[in-house]
Amino acid sequence: MKDTDCVRFLQWALPQLHMHWAGFRKVRKQVCKRLAHRLAELGLADIEAYQQHLTRQPDEWRRLDSLCRVVVTRYYRDKLVFAELAEKVLPHLATTARASGREVLRAWNIGSASGEEAYTLAILWHQLLAPRFTELQLYILGTEIDPHLLERSQQACYLPGTIKNLPEELRTAAFSMDNDHYCLKPEYQAMVEFKQQDIRTTLPDEAFDLILCRNLVFTYFDEPLQQTILNRMLMRLRPGGWLVVGVHETLPAGAGGLTVVSERLGLYQR
Ligand SMILES: C[S@@+](CC[C@H](N)C(=O)[O-])C[C@H]1O[C@@H](n2cnc3c(N)ncnc32)[C@H](O)[C@@H]1O
Repeated sequence: MKDTDCVRFLQWALPQLHMHWAGFRKVRKQVCKRLAHRLAELGLADIEAYQQHLTRQPDEWRRLDSLCRVVVTRYYRDKLVFAELAEKVLPHLATTARASGREVLRAWNIGSASGEEAYTLAILWHQLLAPRFTELQLYILGTEIDPHLLERSQQACYLPGTIKNLPEELRTAAFSMDNDHYCLKPEYQAMVEFKQQDIRTTLPDEAFDLILCRNLVFTYFDEPLQQTILNRMLMRLRPGGWLVVGVHETLPAGAGGLTVVSERLGLYQR
């Protein structure tokens, strides 16, 4: 499929899925490749035929929605953000929680892919914070729409490229080798629970001290949907809690109730 045909198709289809083209511009190749496979699977000659197929078979929109999920992630993605979490945000949350006699801090990682982001947080807590805050535990919930990625989160074994950003001393302590894979040790896995949830329709029941929503909602979804999801997310963020978005993301205009701590790092506090 020619790039220009794929781009024209995405510019037509994405708004109907409440997604916006700008977020896909740089990563469209992986979506276009999946679209080409889908066309072959359906025996369709070109993208115009697929467009007609969508009008005849409205169920296909759900399939298209899943083809438009971008999965790019790694451990310790944007190292300055995780350094700030380890040095400022987590100690601040832990100190406040300790002062009010709480025993558990709660973090929610939205779009947790194969566990890389949630487990990065677990590693930071376990190695750097837990020794200072022995009476506190960190519980992490990772929510993700794709069941295959959730299975990989449970396996928690990764190729070297995925974890190469992690500082050497953290990596050595947290993983053991299994052939050419790095497998996360059970004590880190035990801190994280994963659930299959679509952020567009489902919210966890509990409130969180820290929400990480990076490189998903504020990149790929259109502005009205961003606003709706942000409002719902804020219902699950405790007063004084922190929201972390991607370093290339901005919150929709008129996002209320949050103080900008660092726009560069995507850090906000309620
Ligand atoms: C680009 S990755 C970002 C992963 C990680 N947050 C990071 O910043 O490295 C986006 C992830 O969100 C998941 N995702 C896409 N749509 C979703 C939805 N509606 N609800 C929950 N997760 C979704 C994708 O499957 C993918 O794993």
